[in-house]
Amino acid sequence: MKCRVCKCHVVIELRQHNSAFCAEHFLAFCRRQVERAVDKFDMFRPDDKILVAVSGGKDSLALWDMLVELGYDADGLVIGLGIGEYSEASTEFARTFARDRGLTLHEYSLDAEHGFTVPSAAQATKRVPCSSCGLSKRHIFDSVATSGGYDVIVTGHNLDDEAAVLFGNVSRWQREYLARQSPVLPAANGFPRKAKPLVRLGEREMAAYCVLSNIEYVVEECPMAAGNKHLEYKGLLNDMEVASPGAKHAFYFGFLDRAADLFASAQDETSGSAEDVLSPCSVCGSPSSNDICSFCKLVSLAAVPVEVEITARPDMIDK
Ligand code: AMP
Ligand code: FES
Ligand code: ZN
Ligand code: ZN
Repeated sequence: MKCRVCKCHVVIELRQHNSAFCAEHFLAFCRRQVERAVDKFDMFRPDDKILVAVSGGKDSLALWDMLVELGYDADGLVIGLGIGEYSEASTEFARTFARDRGLTLHEYSLDAEHGFTVPSAAQATKRVPCSSCGLSKRHIFDSVATSGGYDVIVTGHNLDDEAAVLFGNVSRWQREYLARQSPVLPAANGFPRKAKPLVRLGEREMAAYCVLSNIEYVVEECPMAAGNKHLEYKGLLNDMEVASPGAKHAFYFGFLDRAADLFASAQDETSGSAEDVLSPCSVCGSPSSNDICSFCKLVSLAAVPVEVEITARPDMIDK
């Protein structure tokens, strides 16, 4: 098999695209997929100031690399979640990436800023770790992007992530989540624009991108992910993809093209219409539909010293 572009030695075959590429043309292919997603969903413009949420994993580091290679003005943000060595190693990969390329990386530590970590929050709230993790990340993404004057915050969610989330939402017909399942959410009600430029690329491509670009990243999964349903859904979708290359793409983009509009009204039913005015949280000033926002409620509950173990307890796993 030969590279689709230059006919030289192939390093990767992409069955879903009926293509194979050499290293140089695979990297160019990935960047083109990002450009196509950015253009199609009008995620941002060439002169926008971009904040990339970097976890230290392959997806967000590859995304940051591609945006810089494409000429965008993109800074990084890494949040120290306090998940033991996993968080320390993740943050270190983000630091090394930024330092080697002379890029700006904002660092934010949950423990230093708010006196809690994801494991301690899971114990304090008696909920799955991902719940306080997700809530904290969303809040910090929004507040750092807003205070830093960024036009958009981008995350490294890829096609596998988005197809798995879609699968979960469809299997329970969660209309209000389906209404928000878009690769771009416009700025609204004081919240910044959010975008997922990797929706046309999968995990395998992102791992290959990092290896071929000499990007070192944290390979381990989060130790608190045990029992996370999305990992199971990814497995199911991978089986589908083997049987029918392109199935993930058809599932996810078919939804966006042909079904997403059917759920638009569900967003208004649950979160109010776009005209609804949110008021500033009385503690942190972030837009909120309550006097105190969910993040500040979490802080008041979780910011107490407790002995914690860095493992997901079976009784905390989402059923
Ligand atoms: P996850 O929720 O862990 O699947 O990560 C999805 C995306 O969220 C990543 O690709 C990053 O863009 C972002 N993200 C995850 N963890 C962090 C972190 N600790 N700091 C900054 N961004 C993160
Ligand atoms: Fe949920 Fe790490 S806390 S995957
Ligand atoms: Zn080639
Ligand atoms: Zn608040």
